[in-house]
Amino acid sequence: MIIKLLDSSDLKPGLTVPGRQELHVWIFQAEEIDNLHKYAHICLRQLLSQYTGIPKETLEFGTGEHGKPYLISNSFTSHLDTFSSVSDIHEIQFNLSHAGSCAAFIFSTGTPVGIDIEQLNRRVNMDAVSSKIFLTEEARHVKSLTGDDKRLSFFRLWTRTESFLKGIGTGLSVSFTDIKIQEEYSSWTSQFICAPDGYVCCVSYRNL
Ligand SMILES: CC(C)(COP(=O)(O)OP(=O)(O)OC[C@H]1O[C@@H](n2cnc3c(N)ncnc32)[C@H](O)[C@@H]1OP(=O)(O)O)[C@@H](O)C(=O)NCCC(=O)NCCS
Repeated sequence: MIIKLLDSSDLKPGLTVPGRQELHVWIFQAEEIDNLHKYAHICLRQLLSQYTGIPKETLEFGTGEHGKPYLISNSFTSHLDTFSSVSDIHEIQFNLSHAGSCAAFIFSTGTPVGIDIEQLNRRVNMDAVSSKIFLTEEARHVKSLTGDDKRLSFFRLWTRTESFLKGIGTGLSVSFTDIKIQEEYSSWTSQFICAPDGYVCCVSYRNL
């Protein structure tokens, strides 16, 4: 799978949807944002509109059982004649994450995907969260570290875990250590993405 990393300077009309062997990852950083959640949703509409050619105000979203958002196809059927590849539009998959002053998005055609971005200075009880969420060996590794190494190792595991759980759409409603979830994880790949200083970002996608 080829991962293409994009930012606000790449946002133009007529974006081509990712090919089947491709993922598009966008990271937007905006200083002095009062409402990051709102900003992320404006960016998401803009991106989906540029990919599909559909006016952003027409796009409608649904959410899966545990909150994973998806595009509702009714919102674009009347616009299909403007879209070059009718089969692809139904298959656009995406996910988003926001933290600090960053909003991150991943798009694919057909492949389920998840993304998580975290700020390294986020206050969290790393040992307690590690024991609760990560595999025993991983938690032991985090506990053995100190300082910046500990923080980096913890947030890499966090974003890896969360991007996968967002990819399968459960979020934290399931445990990553559950045997069934571990079996599912064996058919996924997680990859770290080059993020702005002070952030860690990971994406997960189901193997083709
Ligand atoms: C969705 C969840 C997985 C992540 O939430 P989060 O870390 O607070 O937020 P992120 O910025 O990474 O992602 C939020 C976005 O994910 C999307 N999302 C929500 N539920 C989702 C789900 N079940 N699956 C995939 N994506 C989901 C939404 O678009 C949401 O953005 P919105 O609220 O602006 O619409 C949630 O289950 C949660 O509660 N997480 C707690 C975080 C935590 O303790 N993590 C421990 C380390 S693994």
